[in-house]
Amino acid sequence: MRFLQWRTGEKLPVLGAGTWNMGENEARADDEVEVLKLALDLRLTLIDTAEMYGAGKAEKIVGRAVAGRRDDVFIVTKLYPHNATFDGTMAACERSLQHLATDRIDLYLLHWPGSSPLAETVEAFERLKEQGKIRHWGVSNFDTDDMEELLALPAGRNCAANQVLYNLGQRGIEWQLLPDCRKRGIAIMAYSPLAQGPLAAHRALAPIARKHGVTPATIAIAWTIRAPGVIAIPKTSDPERMRENAVAADLVLDREDLASLDRAFPPPTRKRPLALN
Ligand SMILES: NC(=O)c1ccc[n+]([C@@H]2O[C@H](COP(=O)([O-])OP(=O)(O)OC[C@H]3O[C@@H](n4cnc5c(N)ncnc54)[C@H](OP(=O)(O)O)[C@@H]3O)[C@@H](O)[C@H]2O)c1
Repeated sequence: MRFLQWRTGEKLPVLGAGTWNMGENEARADDEVEVLKLALDLRLTLIDTAEMYGAGKAEKIVGRAVAGRRDDVFIVTKLYPHNATFDGTMAACERSLQHLATDRIDLYLLHWPGSSPLAETVEAFERLKEQGKIRHWGVSNFDTDDMEELLALPAGRNCAANQVLYNLGQRGIEWQLLPDCRKRGIAIMAYSPLAQGPLAAHRALAPIARKHGVTPATIAIAWTIRAPGVIAIPKTSDPERMRENAVAADLVLDREDLASLDRAFPPPTRKRPLALN
């Protein structure tokens, strides 16, 4: 496992596990708990969830998966923008703590920019930090202009991460957002590194996958974490796929692989609005 040296002094694994769609089907809950336990065994010790996923049920799955090994896990969860007033944020955090059956959230994110005043959200994040209920806070789906608004706030510079869409087919952040965040020590968390599945079967990845003796999914994930400052959080509920995805944490793509991927998935040539799916 490679690690990201965070500006907080901590080291974060460059690969974690997503949980979107988990908790939505009671009959699958036990298997979902088991697959997240497997992720931890495979050293994917960062788990991403949100109050939105399964209306809190994904957080409950995470709580069950980390029981007995909480100190080894870095839990990321997110609050809805419509809950992000000062009081709303404080209340949402309490609910998430309960669902997660834990006393602290390692990284608490505003899920996307919304209509609640950002200054209130940040004030609540800072209060929660003082209370020890969250360790760090950040944002998600914030484009460069959203980041500027945030960083202009008194405590805005305490933002520790921005979770955004980033995969071979969506490279827009490379133009400005990624270098800006990297310069400031704000971790970029790449969601949908498989583009929600299709990249796992993309034919442009097949020859590189064959060369390394892995699958195209592994190549797609390894590509997102090739550069410093990025953590990827692929989601799977399938144990075999979890093993496959975990291999990406140690796979290094060479110059030839990267050039071939640049030809198939060209990097951006100008600033575009942040993609959301
Ligand atoms: N902040 C945000 O707004 C935001 C938005 C989207 C996602 N996220 C977070 O990021 C996580 C990952 O993103 P995502 O779930 O959108 O997409 P993703 O990780 O790119 O892809 C997940 C999909 O790919 C399938 N898959 C996973 N591994 C595979 C493999 N090795 N081979 C073939 N198929 C595979 C999964 O199906 P199976 O489960 O059946 O294997 C699932 O349908 C989410 O779970 C969530 O935690 C955050």
